[in-house]
Amino acid sequence: MGRALAQNLADRKITVIVFDRDAAARSRTAEDPRLVVAESVDAMFAKLAPPRTVLLMVNAGAPVESATGELRMLLSPGDMIVDGGNSFWRDTQRRSADLARAGLDFVGLGVSGGEEGARRGPALMCGGTEAAYGRIRAWLEAIAARVDGHACADWFGPDAGGHFVKMAHNAIEYGVMQAIAEATQILKLGLGLSFPEMQKEAAAWGAAERASYLLELTQDILGRADRETGRPLIEVISDRAGQKGTGGWAIEAALSLGVAAPTLSEAVFARTLSGSPERKDAVARLGAPARRGVLERGDLGDALFAATLVCYAQGFQLIRAGAVQHGWVGDLARAARVWRAGCILRARLLTDVASAYELAPDLTTMLAAPGIASMLKACEPGWRQTVAFAASNGIAAPVLSSSLAYLDAMRTPRGATAMIQAMRDGFGAHGFERIDKPGMHHADWS
Ligand code: 3PG
Repeated sequence: MGRALAQNLADRKITVIVFDRDAAARSRTAEDPRLVVAESVDAMFAKLAPPRTVLLMVNAGAPVESATGELRMLLSPGDMIVDGGNSFWRDTQRRSADLARAGLDFVGLGVSGGEEGARRGPALMCGGTEAAYGRIRAWLEAIAARVDGHACADWFGPDAGGHFVKMAHNAIEYGVMQAIAEATQILKLGLGLSFPEMQKEAAAWGAAERASYLLELTQDILGRADRETGRPLIEVISDRAGQKGTGGWAIEAALSLGVAAPTLSEAVFARTLSGSPERKDAVARLGAPARRGVLERGDLGDALFAATLVCYAQGFQLIRAGAVQHGWVGDLARAARVWRAGCILRARLLTDVASAYELAPDLTTMLAAPGIASMLKACEPGWRQTVAFAASNGIAAPVLSSSLAYLDAMRTPRGATAMIQAMRDGFGAHGFERIDKPGMHHADWS
């Protein structure tokens, strides 16, 4: 992604001095005559005039830590490090504070879109001080994806504001990917479709206002054969998903901020479960469930779209709560606008989400925006059928079903928690609130 971003900057006539630790990568980069490739960090520094801006494109964690430490020794007050990796937001807060003490700016920059996005136009979520953003804003806007002339780049608040929004983006990505995976599993196991038939369904799921990059990718995947065996690609890939951390960090943040993100957490745990050794014993002992019932294909598409909306809603709640707690930018329309193009989540529905938050910035949940509520209502019958079909056929659909449970919990005027409060008071004298007078009360349990 580093080379791709450097080339993107060069396309905009912005001078870039590149250093890569890997000699082979340096030679590859040098094939582009517009890029000045330095042979060492010192040589790179010799070519930079202060105030210097160093864009770091290395893996999150230890590599960012050691590169930042190394750069700190070379940089002078007024210089800036921009970390374009998926760094843990608390690390970004710590590094910002550390470097600020040395008079240096540390900017956490969320970059989404993969290598292709970095080359052609990513979505950029910038943190750091507003003044630091002002210094690099023109560059970020020049290289970002564009929608109707507007760059998909913006500032989300000091220190980790940008990395937190990128983390929420990724958590939604986990949710949407899991929902798509569940829907394709229902097509395969529940409806017995062939791969070409599944590909047609995926095309229908992503038609018109439901179009998204991840659904385009799904169609592409379903049509691909493995080069070595000629079998459908998806059949030769192991059923075990990796994860680099952003999904789990988002769930930890949701728990500590008191934000309900059950659907996003289901998506993270689905990946965890996919790699767990205990599945083997369960497969051997419990066997496959019986198949029953029918499902209209349109129902499945409705369930997928509705679950996608719920994933977004939970991710936006997380961004808002983080912003309130840490003094970041809680303007959710801004996040929706930045995600309209360039990033993995790019989808047509983000235009509606951005308009909903522009019209009503204090909207308590995106699901209550009139246009979005009516989309959900239209999807509801098919969504319920799909969840029931998955359950009665023993097909795990944690995101499709948890999203429906979330909606039902949100929309029920009086939920089931009075029973929980009564039990807590019954066994532990924890007290409960009453509907008819203020304060905490106890029942007589004698
Ligand atoms: C991203 O989208 O930023 C990551 O590449 C995907 O994250 P993951 O490896 O945790 O799925």
